[in-house]
Amino acid sequence: MEKKIVFSGVQPSGVLTMGNYIGAIRNWVELQDEYNCFYCVVDQHAITVPQIPKDLRKNTLDVLALLLAAGIDPKKSALFIQSHVAAHSELSWVLNTITYMGQLNRMTQFKEKSRRSEENLNAGLFTYPVLMAADILIYNADLVPVGEDQKQHMELARDLAERFNNRYSDTFTVPDPLIKKAGARIMSLQDPTSKMSKSDKDTNAYILLLDKPDDIRRKIKRAVTDSIGVIAYNDEQAGLKNLLNIYNAFTNEPIDEIVSRYENLGYGKFKEDLAEVIVEGLSPIREKYDYLMKNKDYLEEVYREGAKKAEYQAEKMLRKVYRKVGFVQR
Ligand code: TYM
Repeated sequence: MEKKIVFSGVQPSGVLTMGNYIGAIRNWVELQDEYNCFYCVVDQHAITVPQIPKDLRKNTLDVLALLLAAGIDPKKSALFIQSHVAAHSELSWVLNTITYMGQLNRMTQFKEKSRRSEENLNAGLFTYPVLMAADILIYNADLVPVGEDQKQHMELARDLAERFNNRYSDTFTVPDPLIKKAGARIMSLQDPTSKMSKSDKDTNAYILLLDKPDDIRRKIKRAVTDSIGVIAYNDEQAGLKNLLNIYNAFTNEPIDEIVSRYENLGYGKFKEDLAEVIVEGLSPIREKYDYLMKNKDYLEEVYREGAKKAEYQAEKMLRKVYRKVGFVQR
């Protein structure tokens, strides 16, 4: 039987956070044996907010190296850069023509981002979810491992697949999101009501995959908790809940066992141990990253090969779509 298809992407807007890793990347790694995986650094999505060109180039390669360091194996998965496979944006145009403005207006991420970038409210920011749908549908992906914040975008992708199929006959697989319960939404260390994000102004709010051990220790020590003073897992103690989720993500130890072990030890001791758990979890990634960054030729080989593999599939699909909508064959 043919393997099912997985697609997912990450923006190269700086070094990845622990949220990206726990919510998405570590799940990407797990899927590689069982599925035919396409993993993409989505540079075209990144330019919907202002970028400094030389930084974007550097960040794209950095993220690629980080994905390899985190365990993406280019022998198993196609690892590539979005702008290298033109079919994504070509399909995106076609999908734009079957997307309702009202649907895009309802996207919470668009609403948030447009509030933050009023002076640069460009059309790309608005149609961003359509390009994301194209990324997924062009590979006929069955499964898309993402964090919870991408749920609404995934619904649009499913919707567009169904609408196209209804209008032009069966073409696209309707993709399922894979959102793991544990770690699907890692919160800011400074404000546990908002998502951990690398665009946060407060650098203490997030941990980056390349943070040094002492920075990790400092950030965890300063992480916001509460004045209740007893370790427990509930929504009132949102800060603590988030820290327990992170502990669980790195150790796989069930939350109730972690809670009962630390119940009588206090926040200080728990935070101290959590910091070490994170340091230990991230240090192999950092070491591998350092090694890879000394080997730029290898990185280039990886993304070239990845794009070749991806392009082969994507072009096949694009030709089919063009035929269905009535474009004259080249
Ligand atoms: P991006 O680059 O913001 O994030 C990459 C992945 O990390 C997840 N994530 C989180 N998970 C848990 N807790 C957090 N605090 C956290 N922050 C981020 C995201 O859910 C995502 O899975 N639009 C996408 C990129 C994209 C894409 C795609 C994804 C473009 N095309 C096609 C899947 C399929 C984005 O901006 O992710």
